[in-house]
Amino acid sequence: MIKLTDVSYTYMSGGPFESAAVENVSVTLNSGEFIGLMGHTGSGKSTLIQMIAGLIKPTSGSIEIDGQVLHSKNCDKRAMRFKTGLVMQYPEYQLFEETVFKDISFGPTNMGLPKDEIKRRVESAANLVGLDEDILQKSPFELSGGQKRRVAIAGVLAMEPKLLILDEPTAGLDPAGRDEILFKIRDMHKRLGITVILVSHSMEDLANLTQKIMVMNHGRLVMYDKTSEIFKKTHELKDLGLAVPQITEICDKLREKGFPVPAGIYTLDTAKAEIEKVLKNEKR
Ligand SMILES: Nc1ncnc2c1ncn2[C@@H]1O[C@H](COP(=O)(O)OP(=O)(O)O)[C@@H](O)[C@H]1O
Ligand SMILES: [Mg+2]
Repeated sequence: MIKLTDVSYTYMSGGPFESAAVENVSVTLNSGEFIGLMGHTGSGKSTLIQMIAGLIKPTSGSIEIDGQVLHSKNCDKRAMRFKTGLVMQYPEYQLFEETVFKDISFGPTNMGLPKDEIKRRVESAANLVGLDEDILQKSPFELSGGQKRRVAIAGVLAMEPKLLILDEPTAGLDPAGRDEILFKIRDMHKRLGITVILVSHSMEDLANLTQKIMVMNHGRLVMYDKTSEIFKKTHELKDLGLAVPQITEICDKLREKGFPVPAGIYTLDTAKAEIEKVLKNEKR
């Protein structure tokens, strides 16, 4: 369980450029869930997840993960560091080793794992993100942008974190590559029962993957609910400058025209079933 209590973060606190990036966020996230995080640029998403990952310390408030309060005296920092994996925005800029293998194995090596276990993890993580084995001995700098991104994601997956946080992991990738990586992550979530927090601007991805969604606006958490409930709030989301999935939009338009399609539809399958129902009743 991840429990945030009144969490705030201010960059350059006390100085003339002081700015509150996250303000008084309180929320409890259940272990094992796939949680989406949306909000327009500058709403505080990256700051919030960096606090959850323990990289930056809240200016005020506290974060508790599985009973341990981050940055407290009793917190087992080493254990926490290995429990949580964060894939930052544009992680390809953080590659620095001579070979892809070394880059992916950086985390597991720090964990002090035996050599053969490190090798197993590197190969399995590379496979998960769709990297061929012959790439492992290349320099990361010889790779394409998309491949570099995969290497960076594999480096986090190789640590097999219980809590996986991804900050717009597929931004800038081609659609096929995006889907491949996201489906692998969904698969991993299902198979291993890990907790996933996914920051994304893609309403389609959030609709397809998440069970719950957090919505940030100007540093505040303004919504947190089941995905189906969030996408019922089309007007509120639009007021926040956000969109809904295209299929939700279509169903909303049908409802406005008087067709009895329920609110909060966000998958193609449900939409199809509901529209078929309406058509059947029309025929009578
Ligand atoms: N390193 C930083 N120094 C100063 N201000 C920052 C820094 N990083 C982010 N901010 C500011 O904090 C606010 C929230 O940013 P961020 O958490 O990156 O939002 P998001 O990820 O939703 O785009 C923004 O106003 C941004 O300009
Ligand atoms: Mg961000």
